[in-house]
Amino acid sequence: MNHLYIHIPFCASRCGYCDFFSQAGCLSQGEAYVDALLAELADSGIVGQAEHLPGELAKCGTGSMDDSAAGPGGLATVYLGGGTPTLLGSRLLERLLSALRPLCRERAEITVEANPSTVTPELAAGLAESGVNRVSLGAQSFNRRLRKNLGRAGPMEAIGRAVKALRAAGFENVGLDLMFSIPEQTLADLEQDLIQALALEPEHISCYELTVKDGSDYQRRWQRQLEEVAGNGHRFYETVVDTLEGAGYRWYETSNYAHPGKECRHNLAYWQRADFFGLGAGAWSSQGLNRWRNVEDAGAYIEGAALGDWEGIREHERLSERQQLTELLMLGLRVKNGIDRQTVAEALDGEQENILLRNGFLLNEGGRILLTRRGRFMANEVCARLIKD
Ligand SMILES: C[S@@+](CC[C@H](N)C(=O)[O-])C[C@H]1O[C@@H](n2cnc3c(N)ncnc32)[C@H](O)[C@@H]1O
Ligand code: SF4
Repeated sequence: MNHLYIHIPFCASRCGYCDFFSQAGCLSQGEAYVDALLAELADSGIVGQAEHLPGELAKCGTGSMDDSAAGPGGLATVYLGGGTPTLLGSRLLERLLSALRPLCRERAEITVEANPSTVTPELAAGLAESGVNRVSLGAQSFNRRLRKNLGRAGPMEAIGRAVKALRAAGFENVGLDLMFSIPEQTLADLEQDLIQALALEPEHISCYELTVKDGSDYQRRWQRQLEEVAGNGHRFYETVVDTLEGAGYRWYETSNYAHPGKECRHNLAYWQRADFFGLGAGAWSSQGLNRWRNVEDAGAYIEGAALGDWEGIREHERLSERQQLTELLMLGLRVKNGIDRQTVAEALDGEQENILLRNGFLLNEGGRILLTRRGRFMANEVCARLIKD
């Protein structure tokens, strides 16, 4: 197992648009939750795997990373996501990270997702000391009105302060998450957000189109405005690509841009459908055709962990070969290098493939199929057509 995801399902408050599993106001469970994560880690077999690591372990400083991190034994990537992992605070994060560090390869990528308001100079220094070498900040927007429309707590000034604190702590790999198609957003608003993000000189930028769950309160509240911005979606996306590529970032996945060598290796592993283990409430794990998910309830997760009743808190599923192929295609098409056509040939609708190629949504480069820029924004629709019934 080379990739480990850890879900921290705590948030100070719930943002109106968010559909990720997290609970507000449950932080008193932090200590017990970390106990449960450590118990699941001990049960996962990852600790035993690292015992076979040769030589010196865990030199996961804040230096730059490259593919030389690949090699036998130990975790290549660890990702603490949420929720808001940084809400755990320095002491609990250090407890967790000190258990993880010895399980990592030299130069492993260790990412922590952070809400800017939680990043103090002390927290940033603590993360660096604990071996974290990549922080992904949820900026979303620098525009007060749009942040309000998102239901996003915290002042926009916290974004710049967080980046400054991370730089002072020595971080050389800081990512900013932005969103577009926010209710009432104009193209000029988006351009301003991109300018402000670029001014902070992050190594990595994710820019997601806002997706809203059907039937949610947020959808009901903003229905008209969401329909208006959806009509601009393609222009928003083009603006993001032009601006970020113009500023020297390389597009490498539908919504992700990075300076060379600063792509998120953990997420690249997902998109290549590598095996990964997920710890924590609501976390998915995937091993070959087998996949399981932990219960989406921090209290039930803690209880199950205390009893060692892992099966009681997990739901399993087994993919068919065909489902796996379809997934490989859908994920592979998201990334810059696309996917080897031969590998997924069985799942392809040849007639639709030709239509998509002729109409400039798809490319075949040396046997690999890729989305064109036009196809990227419509990746889901292109995939749906491409997959044989
Ligand atoms: C798992 S979230 C957690 C990040 C962190 N809790 C925060 O909000 O600052 C990671 C990123 O997903 C994006 N995201 C969350 N909900 C989204 C939605 N409904 N549509 C599009 N992007 C979303 C945001 O950009 C967010 O920063
Ligand atoms: S802080 Fe992040 S994870 Fe929490 S509700 Fe907001 S977007 Fe979702």
